[in-house]
Amino acid sequence: MKMRKYRLFLFCSVGICVVSLLYCYKTLQKGNFLQQLSGHRSGLKSLAILSGFFWKSPLSTSLTGHNNNFLSDTYKHQRAVEIMRKKAFDGKELSEADLVMPDPTGPHGELHKRVYILQDDVTPYFIHSELDALCFHEGTEKAGQRMILKYHEKNSTVLDGHTNKTSRNAAKCACRQGWHGPNCGVPTVVQHSNLPTKSHLKARKVPRRILNAININHEFDLLHARFHELADTVDLFLVCESNFTAYGNSKPLTFLQLLLNGTFNYIKHKILYIFLDHFPKGGRADGWIADDYLRTFLTKNGMSRVRGLRPDDVFILDDADEIPVREGLLFLKLYDGWTEPFGIHMRKSLYGFYWKQLGTLDVLSGCTVAMLHTVYKRDGILLRRRDYYTMPGMRQYEKASGHVLIPWSIGSPVHYAGWHCSWCFKPEGIYYKLISAQNGDFPRWGDFAEKRKLTYIKELIRTGGWFDGSAPHYPQTNPKEHMFAPKYLLDNFERYRHLLDNPYEKR
Ligand SMILES: *[C@@H]1O[C@H](CO)[C@@H](O)[C@H](O)[C@H]1NC(C)=O
Ligand SMILES: *[C@@H]1O[C@H](CO)[C@@H](O)[C@H](O)[C@H]1NC(C)=O
Ligand SMILES: *[C@@H]1O[C@H](CO)[C@@H](O)[C@H](O)[C@H]1NC(C)=O
Ligand SMILES: *[C@@H]1O[C@H](CO)[C@@H](O)[C@H](O)[C@H]1NC(C)=O
Repeated sequence: MKMRKYRLFLFCSVGICVVSLLYCYKTLQKGNFLQQLSGHRSGLKSLAILSGFFWKSPLSTSLTGHNNNFLSDTYKHQRAVEIMRKKAFDGKELSEADLVMPDPTGPHGELHKRVYILQDDVTPYFIHSELDALCFHEGTEKAGQRMILKYHEKNSTVLDGHTNKTSRNAAKCACRQGWHGPNCGVPTVVQHSNLPTKSHLKARKVPRRILNAININHEFDLLHARFHELADTVDLFLVCESNFTAYGNSKPLTFLQLLLNGTFNYIKHKILYIFLDHFPKGGRADGWIADDYLRTFLTKNGMSRVRGLRPDDVFILDDADEIPVREGLLFLKLYDGWTEPFGIHMRKSLYGFYWKQLGTLDVLSGCTVAMLHTVYKRDGILLRRRDYYTMPGMRQYEKASGHVLIPWSIGSPVHYAGWHCSWCFKPEGIYYKLISAQNGDFPRWGDFAEKRKLTYIKELIRTGGWFDGSAPHYPQTNPKEHMFAPKYLLDNFERYRHLLDNPYEKR
């Protein structure tokens, strides 16, 4: 009896080995992309491939869209690596809490070396109604707790001929104002965008994770506005601070201080702190080198410390004064079928939200992690340039993804999908920005003593003028207008009055 068991066991083991070897061979043949994603962790790789084979995630089968072998294999592989890592970390020495965010009183030195383990967002964004329509909770009209449904004109007798009950497919969610699509999950900023694949959108079963990367100097009002706007939508903020100004001088790590003294406790579990401790060669002579390098370092250092990334997660690189509206990013998180890279049309204003400028700023600022790795070689600055079309990895990536990659932008020139608030500080903050500006954005106004005077700066704020002496005519604005400013600032009007209401204008 025992012998028989052993024999059976042996037989099974040999079988498994053979199948595994075949699978390994097949997977290795898939080539470049896989290797890139797993990169230097090749030691883990073969193991991960094996575990990927035996372990079939319910998530991997439920993923919609991008449903070609290439991505789903990579995805399975990534999930396997993620599980392996989790297992490795589940040991006693390293608890997951340690890895996610430091104890504020802990050693400062290691904060910039921590890794962050991405988790799945299990928020039930969509709800199945009684009639099996899938409705986006926030975008659907409700009566009490029940979703309101609309019915198609045609009734079921016409539709299927079997039953007189209203057909399941005939039920539709009734969308609240500002939401569109069969599931009411498409916000107006996407509905009115130039997205070419609007008719192919599909609600995901498992949300993507959203990573938002920024460099921070002293834009703390806007940073609070960003964190509050995106707290429930972004899964991880990669925040990079340097002890050098863009000009190359030394500067204090103010963000780190605030992070450690509890100012950002409401969001610190979603922050990965990145520390740039050197100034790039040639950055003093050519300020644009320093400026670009900030983004390159932020992306490379930051992304190398994120664990559990999946190819279809989303990466967005913003400047500290560019704040995307929540609904736009939520859409990216919950839907498949959009193309990349994508930009965001932002409302433009100067010194505060009250000096509104014409048009929008549309910066190409986001793509999937797969595209960031394959096309942009993990360098965020390349994403923000519009050169993707000639990038060497582009054709390969496009072919592998099975989609034509057409850039688009969330929002439109008349539907703001975010805010770009330039020089939005109190006068002291503007002074500080002047003296830390890189050596490249000529003329460098910080070099002129008279332009650094607070009285001069206050006069600029009052009139909406610029350092070159021009004073454009800006339209009247009203804090009550749609998309005037991020909600958090408006909700705390008194604290942020200096950004919402011209402080020096005599009424
Ligand atoms: C089906 O719908 C049509 C038109 O809306 C209506 O005239 C008809 O009475 C309906 N039939 C049933 C069985 O409800
Ligand atoms: C369905 O509707 C038709 C017409 O209204 C009726 O004659 C039939 O009895 C109904 N069938 C059922 C199963 O209710
Ligand atoms: C920045 O930090 C690094 C590492 O601590 C240090 O070596 C360097 O001298 C600092 N630079 C300035 C300008 O403070
Ligand atoms: C943290 O430090 C800042 C600047 O020194 C200060 O304004 C703030 O009140 C401090 N916050 C806490 C929670 O101690």
